[in-house]
Amino acid sequence: MTDFFGSQAFIGFVYLIASALFILSLKWMNAPPTARRGILSGEIGMVLAIGGTILQLGTEGKLEHIAISYTWIFIALGIGTAIGIPLGMVQMTAVPQRTALSHAFGAFCVTLVGTAEYYLGVHAGNLPTFKMSVLCCEVILGGLTITGSLMAAGKLQEVLPQRPIIYRGQNIVNLGMLAVAIGLAVYLVHNPSATYLYPFMVGIAVVFGVMLVIPIGGADMPTVISLLNSYAGLSAAAMGFVLQNKLLIIAGALDGSSGFILSVIMCKAMNRSFTNVLFGAFGQVQASGGAVQEQRTVRSASADEAAGILAAASRVVVVPGYGMAVAQAQHKVRELYDALTKKGIDVEFAIHPVAGRMPGHMNVLLAEADVPYDHLKEMDEINGDFPQVDVSLVIGANDVTNPAAKTDKASPIYGMPVLDVEKSHTVMVIKRSMNPGFAGIDNPLYYMNNTLMLFGDAKAFVTNIVKELTGGH
Ligand code: TAP
Repeated sequence: MTDFFGSQAFIGFVYLIASALFILSLKWMNAPPTARRGILSGEIGMVLAIGGTILQLGTEGKLEHIAISYTWIFIALGIGTAIGIPLGMVQMTAVPQRTALSHAFGAFCVTLVGTAEYYLGVHAGNLPTFKMSVLCCEVILGGLTITGSLMAAGKLQEVLPQRPIIYRGQNIVNLGMLAVAIGLAVYLVHNPSATYLYPFMVGIAVVFGVMLVIPIGGADMPTVISLLNSYAGLSAAAMGFVLQNKLLIIAGALDGSSGFILSVIMCKAMNRSFTNVLFGAFGQVQASGGAVQEQRTVRSASADEAAGILAAASRVVVVPGYGMAVAQAQHKVRELYDALTKKGIDVEFAIHPVAGRMPGHMNVLLAEADVPYDHLKEMDEINGDFPQVDVSLVIGANDVTNPAAKTDKASPIYGMPVLDVEKSHTVMVIKRSMNPGFAGIDNPLYYMNNTLMLFGDAKAFVTNIVKELTGGH
């Protein structure tokens, strides 16, 4: 029986099931109704992958002193779990930086394993060209992902300055460093015994990760994180070739390609190119225009006035954004939806692809509050309808409604597709102040004749509107 569980056939079967579950997980996570199933299948896949690998170690005779070595493995698993559980319970708004930390851990692991394999290979005189080539890819990608991800997490958590740090000749310095690391890798592939060069190659990759991220502004961090996710996946796939582990190759390739596709989707939604994200220094403070805007006036309204306007409408579109997430207002927004639909008012939600701070952020929050999926409309689906909308109620969204993206060629978000809320009869915007959104720029929407500002915290303001609509019940 023990022989059967330790057999290559059984381990291969476990790996196959784990791979299928990873693929299904990605597929199911594509849509809100199946997303929970997607998470569960990913978790089961990972348990099978770890279980299969532990069995594999036993059969390869790598754990001659099985009692001692398994003890260490289970201690490590315990420590990992103890760190992972609190990491998984962070606030939804902190998920991007949490994800970046996970990439840093994964990349650290990949780099350590690659380094161990290198020195073991040198010692055994067994580092053929292919193995050494993939090993170099593994540790270079792993090394730059460690520090790149830590920098990205630090910027998003605001423990590091969000602003891009730029100096002359930066791109040349960065590309030069990468070229040196690749040059060392090529030399090491042909002369693996040149051990004195190995730490330099890894060290340069680690420093390159920092240099790569410092010129990129906080607003682009989610895109950078999904790109780093892709690098972490590719380095894990390379590790799969080094260790000859098929599951790692499959999981790494899935991670690498899905991270890359996600970065492309995010760039498209912001109408930016990869080069612009990586080298464009987006997110610098826009000094121009501030003085002019200060002289402009805005009109504001109270909760009871807003409730009156909503009650008189027949079609309302709610536009949620990052502020709704910060205020955790989604449940109150659901109550508002109920109160308005009870009055026979048609209520829809306009979802911008990069509203919030991570892909699907608004969908997740509204699903948590049980807002019906069929009332959530993608930007392309609803944008043509705004002229027929009586009231657009913007709740903590800013950049995704900024009309300057369509008209102001000097604006850093020029070309980014936005929700055409200004075309509706009345626009009401809930936010706390006139402060800008993530891109750090002013929003001309707030000064338009058909716009009313509803100043306050999103949760408190929506609560007051609901009270007015329901007569306090
Ligand atoms: P933002 O433009 O960041 O604006 C959010 C607004 O919410 C702020 O202006 C803020 O104004 C308000 N706010 C914050 N806390 C609030 C609270 N408690 N109550 C009420 N309002 C509050 O958000 P957005 O429109 O969702 O746009 C997302 C931005 O992130 C875009 O620039 C996008 O390119 C960027 N981004 C997103 C992603 C993904 S994948 N989602 C990826 C990369 C970049 P006050 O401070 O005045 O309240």
